Amino acid sequence: MKIYVFQTEKELDTFVGQHIIDFIQENEKPVIGFATGSTPLGVYDYFIDAYQNKNVDFSKVVAFNLDEYVGVEKTHPRSFATAMRDSLFKKINIKDENIHALNGKAEDMKEECCRYDREIEDNPIDIQILGIGMDGHIAYNEPGSPFDGGSHVVDLHQESIQSSLDYGFDRIEDVPTQGVTQGIATIMKAKQLIMMAKGEKKAKLVKRMLKGEVSEDFPSSIIQRHENVIVVLDKEAAKCLKEEDYERC
Ligand code: GLP
Repeated sequence: MKIYVFQTEKELDTFVGQHIIDFIQENEKPVIGFATGSTPLGVYDYFIDAYQNKNVDFSKVVAFNLDEYVGVEKTHPRSFATAMRDSLFKKINIKDENIHALNGKAEDMKEECCRYDREIEDNPIDIQILGIGMDGHIAYNEPGSPFDGGSHVVDLHQESIQSSLDYGFDRIEDVPTQGVTQGIATIMKAKQLIMMAKGEKKAKLVKRMLKGEVSEDFPSSIIQRHENVIVVLDKEAAKCLKEEDYERC
């Protein structure tokens, strides 16, 4: 596992953005897994700038979203599908038919999860962008989610419901109580994981994720078992790590 710590958010975003752009340019069919939340937004801005400056072509990129709220249409203003569209997809030349997402409004959620896992099996993810939730979740795999599970519906934990207020919900009562997410086994099949964390509020979580016991009680700890992970942190998120644990960039 490589752990890089950057002095500024901008340097971190540039590193991740350029790493993915290089991959896109070198590959015929790059399959990228995208995360919502606030952490990757700077990377998405980097992609948009690069696209506007004609430095990258996204037309052959195949995209998979990580998760969604249950009971929410993809066109809902607070859906993760809308968040990805507004923060990135509508501003670059990715093809609509290449954007894959879980449908939180599907009639049969079990079948929807199987469909999504099959789509991913047919288009294995090359690089998966990840963030860490305030209870240690990845995507919406809450504590207790099985490490060997595929995509599934989850009851959101209180911390996750609370964090959703940052994503534009006005009132806690408006936040859906369930999510649907790529499973941990699905995520672990990606060829490379890029785990991003920013800010002091993530510092203790980052330490537990990277140095703590690998346990279903703390889902993001599973990344310790992936053979190709890049962890990118700003200096605040790295505060609880020892200097020898990471490379300073
Ligand atoms: C959210 C999403 C995750 C995201 C994580 C971190 O709830 N379901 O996919 O990576 O929590 O969010 P943030 O980057 O806003 O801290």
